[in-house]
Amino acid sequence: MNREQWGSRAGFILAAVGSAIGLGNIWRFPYMAYENGGGAFFIPYLFAMITAGIPFMIMEFSLGHKLRGAAPRAFSKLGTKFEWLGWFQVSIAAIIAVYYVAIIGWAISYLGMAFTQSWGSDTNAFFFSEYLKLGENSPSQLGSLQFHIAIPMTIAWAITFAAIFTGVKGGIERASKIMMPLLFLMVLGFISRVVFLPGAMDGLNYLFQPDFSKILDAKVWSAAYGQIFFTLSVGFAIMIAYSSYLPKKSDINNNAFMTVLINCGFSIMAGVMIFAVLGYMAQEQAKPITEVVSAGVGLAFVTIPAAINLLPAPFILGPLFFFALVVAGLSSHISIIEAVTSAIIDKLNWTRKKAAVVVCGLGYLVSMAFATNGGLLLLDLVDYFINNIALLASCLIEIAIIAWLLKVSDIRQYVNERSEFSIGKWFEVCLRFLSPAMLAVIVTTNLINTFN
Ligand code: PHE
Ligand code: NA
Repeated sequence: MNREQWGSRAGFILAAVGSAIGLGNIWRFPYMAYENGGGAFFIPYLFAMITAGIPFMIMEFSLGHKLRGAAPRAFSKLGTKFEWLGWFQVSIAAIIAVYYVAIIGWAISYLGMAFTQSWGSDTNAFFFSEYLKLGENSPSQLGSLQFHIAIPMTIAWAITFAAIFTGVKGGIERASKIMMPLLFLMVLGFISRVVFLPGAMDGLNYLFQPDFSKILDAKVWSAAYGQIFFTLSVGFAIMIAYSSYLPKKSDINNNAFMTVLINCGFSIMAGVMIFAVLGYMAQEQAKPITEVVSAGVGLAFVTIPAAINLLPAPFILGPLFFFALVVAGLSSHISIIEAVTSAIIDKLNWTRKKAAVVVCGLGYLVSMAFATNGGLLLLDLVDYFINNIALLASCLIEIAIIAWLLKVSDIRQYVNERSEFSIGKWFEVCLRFLSPAMLAVIVTTNLINTFN
């Protein structure tokens, strides 16, 4: 059977960008930047983007393109003893898929509530007690299934399932072509209103004003690398699967640069959107901005709803924000599920439709664990482990196998033969020395910190 293919170059880029741009750009990037030195964070961030993000993207695109398989098949073609790395990455993707969809579910609920701000004035108590119904439960005591969370999650799964079931060109590509332009328009629309609010500029100053004392802090570098791998969806088996559907004649260097730059540009837009709102909120409440920011899920589901309460035309800006969050999340969720589905199709020779039913069906059932009273605690636990250890370890193993056992110079030659512009020797230096060294240090530090 012939492998499915993307219909056009733009279609592939939009799908790759759809995977990259996700919840991570809208709520994770702004608070990471804020916590790690504001404007000074951009130095490690850009450094990680150039020395790790772009080279990894080029490498993963070339693996999928050349080896024409999802991660397990691609790695097994490099050597049968490496197939497990593909499955390790597919497992990470599967784990992310089941909790990521919970956050999309919350965003769908909040999209509904945003029209009337029915979350009320105490958005903190609302989110944790009334919406999540966080009890005294620990992750081992999940409590009961919350239907008001399970239902929006079901909607998210239905959309993902429809795209995966329909296929690469008719499903994933078509969805990306609608979702991505829509997302940019929504965020631009939102920004063009909120930057004119009083206090918005103070918020932006806060985000962009560098605190150089943080730049020598190893934690900031670790955060920047973690954010780059997460935000670009590399190391999860996703970009390998997506690039395995590229036509033979594809400009890999160009596609990789576009994907990375669009994603990171969008992150900066999202930072502007969030911090303009926070600056306005700080001014309205006559509080310093440090007292209105919160990190993690609290930013999108506690702070932003509180800010929306204060915005002009909240019934427009509120739904706009949550709709953007839903769209960004869904296009990423589709890509994670495709990474799993395509691996199963390769391995078991199933039809796409059968694999889609089984993967989404099982994923759906498991994800319901996150629609319980203990869901958030479980989510925090899994998310911590994935982001701080599993993902970076997976990238480290990937680079160790590829850069040390195989030849990075061959990859460079392969992509340069097929591109309008060539990448230089720096690519090899980054992949063979710089990235492995950085990753090794960061993974070790994170492991030590976790078990201390
Ligand atoms: N890149 C996505 C984001 O920034 C994250 C992601 C994508 C995570 C796909 C998992 C799978 O949100
Ligand atoms: Na991203």
